[in-house]
Amino acid sequence: MASSTTNARDLEQIVRDGLSSLVFAFGHKTGIVDAFTEIQQPCTAEELSQKAGNKLRYTQEWLGCMVAAGIVTITDDEKYSLPHDKTQIKTWGHIATAIPILGDIIPKLDKAATLGGPKGFTYQEPYLHWLNGFRSPEALQEWNQELLVPVVNLKSGDEFVILDIGCGFGKHSREVAKLYPRSKIYAIDMEQVSIDNAKKELAEDGLENIEYLCMRGGQLPEEWADKFDFVIINDVLHDSYEVDEILEGVKKVLKPDGFAAAFDPAVSSHHKKIFKDATAQFYLPYSLFSCLPVSSMGPIEGLGIGWGYERRKQKIEEHGFRVVQVGEKDVNTIQEGIVFQK
Ligand SMILES: C[S@@+](CC[C@H](N)C(=O)[O-])C[C@H]1O[C@@H](n2cnc3c(N)ncnc32)[C@H](O)[C@@H]1O
Repeated sequence: MASSTTNARDLEQIVRDGLSSLVFAFGHKTGIVDAFTEIQQPCTAEELSQKAGNKLRYTQEWLGCMVAAGIVTITDDEKYSLPHDKTQIKTWGHIATAIPILGDIIPKLDKAATLGGPKGFTYQEPYLHWLNGFRSPEALQEWNQELLVPVVNLKSGDEFVILDIGCGFGKHSREVAKLYPRSKIYAIDMEQVSIDNAKKELAEDGLENIEYLCMRGGQLPEEWADKFDFVIINDVLHDSYEVDEILEGVKKVLKPDGFAAAFDPAVSSHHKKIFKDATAQFYLPYSLFSCLPVSSMGPIEGLGIGWGYERRKQKIEEHGFRVVQVGEKDVNTIQEGIVFQK
């Protein structure tokens, strides 16, 4: 049987692509990419540098990097094009800007990973802001249609009481509140700074069916027993060091006919299943630099994204929940969402 190392990818190419990603991130961050998407293409280096407001030589060198990487194309008369979809350029440009942010975390990660070093560290603010950059209303609405609406459709009507555990800066909870205006949303997070931010943005929005509270998922109040039709736990469990406490809390507050839905990246728990897996290749680095150290701060061993779908599902079932199939995918297929009932 062939081992996965016999058909390993070209290491040199991977590192070269990493360098190209950093250069692309620089272009995204500093406006060259924006100027490129706005200008009539193909264009000269002079036209692009003028549009971006940058020095010509720097623009030329940036273009050289991108041409060598095959991201930018060039005609015989030295005119350049960026032949990619605009939305895709924006999204991947933002993603690439994680590289320098993660790079800055290396000294802390080095200490945490060393035997005898600290367990991990708390969320790093630049990373949280980067993460928040994905939470545009359009992206959240799309996410809701694809992943949340099929869950909410499991119950009839639209007047629900919904709990969002680990709401972060609260943008997602607000989109849920807009989508279900006749429902009441309680959104909690253990970090005061996230709740303060969420409340500030809520004041600007004027929504009345949402309440933000600074609270731990493992310390939900007794008066919330059997209160909620739906509990949403989005991108939280793999980051948390109190998964057992959160799941106990969910059990307490979910109505007998209610549904909880935990969403985490669709990555398998088993390394043998992720060889050359693009989703795992994409998500696991964030885990190494953030989710794992953050989830390592408690008394239990850290989880992170590598905890994976199978072990997450097993943990939910160990708490006595029944996992429910929503849509086409069987519950044993690796996916983002795990929907469960008590
Ligand atoms: C990666 S963020 C996701 C935020 C939000 N759900 C979203 O998708 O934008 C994870 C959040 O979970 C929160 N969190 C982690 N463990 C928690 C717990 N035990 N109780 C409440 N919040 C928790 C963190 O403070 C953080 O804001």
